[in-house]
Amino acid sequence: MADPFAIGDVMIPNRIIQAPLAGIANRAFRRQSRRHGAGATVSEMVSAHALVRDNPQSIAMATPAEDESPVGIQIFGAEPQVMANAAAIVADAGADWIDVNMGCPVGKVCRTGAGSALLDDPVRAAELVAAMVAAVDIPVTVKMRRGMTPATSRPTETARVLADAGAAAICFHPRAAAEEYAGSADHTITAAVVEAVDVPVIASGDVRTPEEAATVMESTGCAAIAVGRAALGNPWVFGAMVRGEAVPRMSLADTAVELRGYVGELIALQGARRANKDLRKFYPWYLAGHGFPDERMRLMQTADTADEALDVLEEWVGQPTAA
Ligand SMILES: Cc1cc2nc3c(=O)[nH]c(=O)nc-3n(C[C@H](O)[C@H](O)[C@H](O)COP(=O)(O)O)c2cc1C
Repeated sequence: MADPFAIGDVMIPNRIIQAPLAGIANRAFRRQSRRHGAGATVSEMVSAHALVRDNPQSIAMATPAEDESPVGIQIFGAEPQVMANAAAIVADAGADWIDVNMGCPVGKVCRTGAGSALLDDPVRAAELVAAMVAAVDIPVTVKMRRGMTPATSRPTETARVLADAGAAAICFHPRAAAEEYAGSADHTITAAVVEAVDVPVIASGDVRTPEEAATVMESTGCAAIAVGRAALGNPWVFGAMVRGEAVPRMSLADTAVELRGYVGELIALQGARRANKDLRKFYPWYLAGHGFPDERMRLMQTADTADEALDVLEEWVGQPTAA
């Protein structure tokens, strides 16, 4: 996992990528993932429509920090021209590559023809990729599920059409949109996609440990692994996978130190008020398995500021029995 590979002409120093995560993979989260060893990161999905309308919040979401290369910025939309214009904006903002969302199962997105709905319309999906490729000099990649439903899925055909349209890599999650996150990811489908296309395939879905990463890579022949949910509250997973070592069991005290660092970065990015709200979902992720009392978790999640929430945690860590 520690050797490089390329997406188009972008070199990725290792084969463990932080997966795109809406509402999570902002600059602070991406920086943390890189610090812990991810070879590259991908942003949360950004609306192409909002980008072309010059929406300041979306422009900020699509603008990488100067020190975070290599990074992919993911956009979603359904119209080739809008996606091409948005791609040009993202390229100017400093992305190393642009990823197209063809996996989002959420109704609000699919009803506009974007996200996984594009998988039911491969001709349009290919037009969209070709228009983007023509508009920018950086690689355009696609993040896709196997299809909208298991019955209508044609993942190998779709991936081939997208690669022929110019996609420089495919990140593949083998569940159908209708399956959301049910069951387990069937990476025999990923293996068929790897076989079907000449571009690198990044496997996504249910990879939680270095052993699982190695198994998926060997069984599919994929170029890299994308890690999503396993990294929530557990950034150490990236380095462990790159090195092929067991994921370290962090002490509560070390976890609290990591969390404080992350809180600081998120406040710097979002401001104290928004960060405090955003962090409420992170606390259980970080503290799961540490025997952290429920009533203290409630205090953290209802605190007026993130600093107050951290005080609740650190007071507990300071108790002789806690760490
Ligand atoms: C909270 C959450 C947000 C997600 N947001 C995105 C997104 O914005 N774009 C995308 O392509 N996939 C998104 N995904 C899918 C993940 O990138 C990944 O493919 C999926 O979670 C399976 O991988 P995992 O088992 O490693 O989490 C999201 C998943 C989760 C759980």
